[in-house]
Amino acid sequence: IKYDSAEFLTSAQKYSQCPSDTGAEVAFAGRSNAGKSSSMNTLTRNSKLARTSKTPGRTQLLNFFSLSGGDYRLVDLPGYGFAKVNRTMKEDWEENIGEYLAERVSLRGVVLVMDIRHPMTEFDQRMVEWAVQTEMPMRILLTKSDKLKKGPAKNTYLKINNELRSRAPWLSAQLYSSLKREGVNELSEWLNGQLTE
Ligand code: GTP
Ligand code: MG
Repeated sequence: IKYDSAEFLTSAQKYSQCPSDTGAEVAFAGRSNAGKSSSMNTLTRNSKLARTSKTPGRTQLLNFFSLSGGDYRLVDLPGYGFAKVNRTMKEDWEENIGEYLAERVSLRGVVLVMDIRHPMTEFDQRMVEWAVQTEMPMRILLTKSDKLKKGPAKNTYLKINNELRSRAPWLSAQLYSSLKREGVNELSEWLNGQLTE
């Protein structure tokens, strides 16, 4: 699969607006500001693909991107836990993303993006728990690894990867840096496995 072929397909405010549920897709989830959109942009070598922002909560829709070579898609999910959110918006988020995760037949894997300096928040743990229960393949991306020295970054990776592997064999972690383009090949290999399996 050529990830640099990614093109914006459509946005959905709610589950009923998602494109047809055929082929295979992988969704990028994670806390607001964790670096989801940035990681998709480095993967696809397209800095304008998914909008990134210093302001948390930039992505408030499900954004679908199509890949060439088959019926493959990547999905940028809105971040969880953005500051300026009222109760209703939070409930909407839980309802829409919850429905998407529960219903989407073409969903073959989830990339859970975490800022390596703040890994495994309460929400992250809930997502991991969900992947364990539903047997959903999940790749934890420890991104912004450029913010830590090599040693501490590796230690965080080893600790989290061991924890995940002991929970379920379909969970794994890797280091990533959008700034330094590190971990991109490793991520695309994992995605190939999920999309074409
Ligand atoms: P929401 O759409 O709000 O949920 O955020 P997001 O998870 O899509 O985060 P986004 O990709 O917009 O990145 C948030 C901020 O982190 C931006 O200022 C990015 O430039 C920065 N950032 C993302 N990835 C990296 C990285 O690998 N290294 C560094 N140093 N900064 C990064
Ligand atoms: Mg985003």
